[in-house]
Amino acid sequence: MTTHHAAPPATVRRTARHRRYLMCRPEFFEVRYAINPWMDPSKPVDTALAVAQWERLLARYTEAGHTVELIEPVPGLPDMVYAANGATVVDGRVLGARFRNPERAEEGPAYLRWFREHGFGRLRDPEHVNEGEGDFLATRSWILAGRGFRSTPLAHLEAQEFFGRPVLGLDLVDPRYYHLDTALAVLDGDEIMYNPEAFSPGSRSVLRRVFPDALLASPADAAAFGLNAVCDGLNVFLPEAAQDLAGQLRARGYRPRPVDLSELLKGGGSVKCCTLELRP
Ligand code: ARG
Repeated sequence: MTTHHAAPPATVRRTARHRRYLMCRPEFFEVRYAINPWMDPSKPVDTALAVAQWERLLARYTEAGHTVELIEPVPGLPDMVYAANGATVVDGRVLGARFRNPERAEEGPAYLRWFREHGFGRLRDPEHVNEGEGDFLATRSWILAGRGFRSTPLAHLEAQEFFGRPVLGLDLVDPRYYHLDTALAVLDGDEIMYNPEAFSPGSRSVLRRVFPDALLASPADAAAFGLNAVCDGLNVFLPEAAQDLAGQLRARGYRPRPVDLSELLKGGGSVKCCTLELRP
């Protein structure tokens, strides 16, 4: 193991930058089908509790000074709460989503309609299967792109051409981490945190080369969905169960903001899944 890439010390001055997020209230949230290993339709879901927990996350964002836009939930689309999957927005350009599973197919057009009605001019109706920010995560220099379970390699090329930013394809190999945002989170600039075990050996060495200073999450924190996190440059909103990860973030000068989204975890999502960043 090489140790010469030391983690940035806590004395690094972190600053929050104002963000604009899109969220969808889980009014119609339930687990009726299973398209990832976390979903068990035989387990009861408390929709009212899901809404209350989601409201807390929204409050966390507004308390931190961020703007939260809301999209109207659609009855019969229980996974629409996972707004991160609705599109990818970089430099004000919107790449719509095209879902792998028929259960979620109608979410793509519903989100695209929201963007059309809210003054986003540069929209692309996608040709290839991509599940929005579930699999596309923008750092300062890259768009990191997951594949293996949902989004396809052709969608990566489509995103690169549309955004004009280099796309780095990463192979996900563990079905529990079926979207990139369950295995990796962007902190600030080109700083990321991830769970190496979710990636193929080749993708692990790509990550090590490109992001030698990355924060590595323990398997336990990853299983608590700790990497399904949102960072504004200073605050890191993450599931409260990811305790060690919170400590590691604090040591790097970040401010962990733990949130309990246990009901939404039953659908296989947490903080990041519920949050689509609208990048100007
Ligand atoms: N039930 C949803 C699915 O399997 C969860 C999506 C979670 N979203 C995310 N950005 N990882 O598609």
